[in-house]
Amino acid sequence: LDNGLLRTPPMGWMAWERFRCDIDCNNDPENCISEKLFRDMADRLSEDGWRELGYEYVMIDDCWMSMQRGSDGRLQPDPTRFPGGIANLAKYIHNRGLKLGIYADMGSATCMGYPGTTLDKVEIDAKTFASWGVDYLKFDGCNSNVIEQLIGYPLMSMALNATGRPIAYSCSWPAYVGGLPPKVNYYLLRDICNVWRNFDDIQDSWDSMQSIINWFSTHQDDLQPAAGPGGWNDPDMLIIGNFGLSVEQARTQMALWAIMAAPLIMSNDLRSLSNDARAILQNRAAIAINQDPRGIQGRRLLQVTVSSGTITDQFKPEKSRIEVYWRPLSHSANALVFLSRRQDMPYLYHSSLAKLNFTAGSYEAYDVFSGKTTTGLTATTEFKVSINPSGVVMWYVYPAKQSPKDTGRYPYMR
Ligand code: GLA
Repeated sequence: LDNGLLRTPPMGWMAWERFRCDIDCNNDPENCISEKLFRDMADRLSEDGWRELGYEYVMIDDCWMSMQRGSDGRLQPDPTRFPGGIANLAKYIHNRGLKLGIYADMGSATCMGYPGTTLDKVEIDAKTFASWGVDYLKFDGCNSNVIEQLIGYPLMSMALNATGRPIAYSCSWPAYVGGLPPKVNYYLLRDICNVWRNFDDIQDSWDSMQSIINWFSTHQDDLQPAAGPGGWNDPDMLIIGNFGLSVEQARTQMALWAIMAAPLIMSNDLRSLSNDARAILQNRAAIAINQDPRGIQGRRLLQVTVSSGTITDQFKPEKSRIEVYWRPLSHSANALVFLSRRQDMPYLYHSSLAKLNFTAGSYEAYDVFSGKTTTGLTATTEFKVSINPSGVVMWYVYPAKQSPKDTGRYPYMR
């Protein structure tokens, strides 16, 4: 959507995956969906170094509303959990240099049964959000049919635009119609939305994350061309820092989300994050790759397919169960990710840049998670990388022999 917003994928924090629809503030005051939770996260984003790295959105998800609209027909927050109202919460967040996201649903009710935005309510809801100072809307699609969605998603896009307030627009629409052409028209989506959910909700597990990676890669020919500045595919929230991923698997999510030009929207508890999770989420090179200004989504180059419980190698030479992902970046640089689908031990993978479609030249590779640089690579140099089970090695590969001042292009490299 050409509204000047999200020229790079959005970054921030969203409540859903970690805090769900916990509305029990009597027994669980620290974790329930309430203005306190969002203020706490805004404090953490602004005080713990997140905002400076680009993590700027604090996003409310489902279960913020009162069960009834007000007598003026407007949505209103639950009065006991959001006593100060959303406009005040927006001020709190803006005062910390952050932005506020909110959630609504194109349909008769939200996924958790709170008031929906039927077609006749689209305009008033857009106006309400703008009047509160909202900066981002996640527009979900539960409890509506395909016709209502076809009308409602473009209508909300126009209604947000008509408010005159810049509000980034995230559409869950494709996820409700299978995520693929011909049922999904990605040309239309790019015109009306800044970001869109294509597929299933992420859960706190390696299985869930792998199924998302597999689906996005399997369908990359349909999805990859749709992404670019102002419009992004959304494989859902980052679960790094929760309970379901090992440290290796957490790096895998960060690396693959960077390759996919995916939103970096954490859903975790920033008040009690481990140092490992923090280091991964705050990795400057991974963030810079994700936020590359060219905005070209990456692709899987070499694939291991999983069929009926066993892993088979689609490409005969790739017996290794190592997959390779690639994303072209600004300044003739590239990102490469080597992902191990193995369950035995660190695997020493042999390859060369020429095998990975690089043209002749001389290159250097910066290892995003170890910080080490490999110099003296030509396209045909055979190199080896050691990849841990369910982990990744991520390389930032750039042309060598650049003048010293050019290294200023890569500000995160020491
Ligand atoms: C759907 C969405 C999730 C979340 C929930 C809230 O499942 O896909 O991201 O917003 O609804 O109920």
